[in-house]
Amino acid sequence: MVNVIGLGYIGLPTALMLASHGVQVVGTDYNTKLVQTLQAGQTTFSEAGLEALFASALEAGIRFSGEYQSTDVYIVSVPTPYDRDSKKIDPCYVIAAVKQILSVCAEDAVIVIESTVSPGTMDRFVRPLCQGKKVHLVHAPERIIPGNMLYELEHNSRTIGADDPQVGQQVKELYSSFCKGEIVVTDIKTAEMTKVIENTYRAVNIAFANELAKLCHYEGMNVDEIIRICNMHPRVNILSPGPGVGGHCIPVDPWFLVGDYPEHTPLIAKAMTINEEMPDFIYSRICSIMEEHGISDFSKVGLYGLTYKEDVDDVRESPTLQLLQRHPMPFAVYDPMLTETIADNQYTDFTNFLQDTHLVVVMVAHSHLRSVSEAMKDKIIFDTRRALKGMDTYRI
Ligand SMILES: NC(=O)c1ccc[n+]([C@@H]2O[C@H](COP(=O)([O-])OP(=O)(O)OC[C@H]3O[C@@H](n4cnc5c(N)ncnc54)[C@H](O)[C@@H]3O)[C@@H](O)[C@H]2O)c1
Repeated sequence: MVNVIGLGYIGLPTALMLASHGVQVVGTDYNTKLVQTLQAGQTTFSEAGLEALFASALEAGIRFSGEYQSTDVYIVSVPTPYDRDSKKIDPCYVIAAVKQILSVCAEDAVIVIESTVSPGTMDRFVRPLCQGKKVHLVHAPERIIPGNMLYELEHNSRTIGADDPQVGQQVKELYSSFCKGEIVVTDIKTAEMTKVIENTYRAVNIAFANELAKLCHYEGMNVDEIIRICNMHPRVNILSPGPGVGGHCIPVDPWFLVGDYPEHTPLIAKAMTINEEMPDFIYSRICSIMEEHGISDFSKVGLYGLTYKEDVDDVRESPTLQLLQRHPMPFAVYDPMLTETIADNQYTDFTNFLQDTHLVVVMVAHSHLRSVSEAMKDKIIFDTRRALKGMDTYRI
């Protein structure tokens, strides 16, 4: 039996996927309300295909519990934030989970840490906890992207880092129950480093596009057209600029490297700062557009989208929330993916939101926009995501 610890955006789909492919699974989370919701047969966040997968896992016998189970395989997917001052990983959730596992696990149990961790975390923080009990440590970082999680769980390649190649092979077989991608078995530190580097690569490339957006704006040039032409070069592939970077991965994980290796990571540190400053750049653009149109009342400016990316309900580190935090003006806000209110002046009805605003700032390219773009025709629009094709809008 596999006990999946932490049933959030990563742990829940992983547990469901394993169960629906014939593995006996118990999902454990210390959030009692979340466990009760799952026990009542309801999913806890929205994701394409999750309901159907949930139903199939229930049929296969998955159970949910607040208790750690006594078994021989654990998969840990708890949060791994960073310390805002030191930039180093804060491993407290992983440490707490492993301590609880050690208090109930069988001798020779395999403890797979799926949470993203900085290189050396397993050696520095996890291994010392295990002294005195024979367990096998594995790091199997997750690569899936919210919005396309279930497809990617099945089709992405994976990395398994293990001390003992045989244990690595055993864990590979477990993931092979649902994963059709290539599974590489390596050592733990290599697995730790690759995962963080993958997200750092994304962060640095996004920062490059964001810097170009600022440069082109200064020069009065169209950054999208410049990137389009540059990308016709066979060895150039510039990403699109945006209003900032959110989620639990790209704005977080690269800081681990800066925290641990400050003297070796000036490029990464600068890239992270460039991305973090994008909501401020967007704010200054909003102010200029307001001035141009004689708008002085911020409540007439509507921010469309509170989540960190399109078509998900995850708001962690979202550029809109960063903007609101740093520039607390009475903006109107609306997000079609959210049912609960998380910001001041948040509308639940799009028509009312549109009626009350003169300038709409598209912060997230939810699919919902496609069905309402016609109704937005009379508005001044600042489209930071290039979501409204063929419409006359301000661009980043
Ligand atoms: N969200 C993503 O897109 C994504 C993608 C790849 C990797 N990751 C990594 O996966 C890990 C988990 O991220 P997430 O987005 O699923 O986080 P999350 O916050 O959605 O879920 C974590 C869950 O763990 C539970 N939890 C925390 N400590 C616990 C403990 N000691 N015992 C039992 N339950 C505990 C929380 O209640 C929560 O439900 C992180 O390391 C993250 O970096 C996330």
